[in-house]
Amino acid sequence: MRLKYYHDGKVIGFYELNGFPGCNQVAVSNHAWISPDQRGNGYGDAAHKQRLKEAQELGYDYIICTVDRANEVQCHILEKNNWYNLDDFVNRETGKTIKIYGKKLDSRPPVVV
Ligand SMILES: CC(C)(COP(=O)(O)OP(=O)(O)OC[C@H]1O[C@@H](n2cnc3c(N)ncnc32)[C@H](O)[C@@H]1OP(=O)(O)O)[C@@H](O)C(=O)NCCC(=O)NCCS
Repeated sequence: MRLKYYHDGKVIGFYELNGFPGCNQVAVSNHAWISPDQRGNGYGDAAHKQRLKEAQELGYDYIICTVDRANEVQCHILEKNNWYNLDDFVNRETGKTIKIYGKKLDSRPPVVV
């Protein structure tokens, strides 16, 4: 599911949240994107926090993502938001080192019965 990030009534970014196949309570976070002319103003971090809130509201318990180790800005945002670097691996197609991160989503909304 692709979601929008707004600033001053304009869409300046996107992010995606998808269910991990076969693991109902795990969300996969991908496609963090802020418009190039808006970067470096804190919107990437704000959109990230919105993403975490959305995942909690959707009822997920845990969230994972991968990021190229060379993407220092995104790694910084993840670590600043208390994600754990679970492991690193080499992508055999690109030769790049990829970091895999995870985070518990511990503020679940109340279950409505
Ligand atoms: C990654 C991306 C979403 C970040 O958006 P942004 O709006 O520029 O990010 P912010 O301004 O909120 O935050 C940048 C943070 O990185 C820090 N930073 C900047 N350059 C850095 C570097 N080289 N190393 C480490 N941290 C760095 C900034 O100091 C800031 O940290 P702070 O909030 O603690 O001060 C944006 O650059 C983007 O769309 N990139 C292209 C797509 C992409 O790479 N997506 C991630 C795929 S996994």
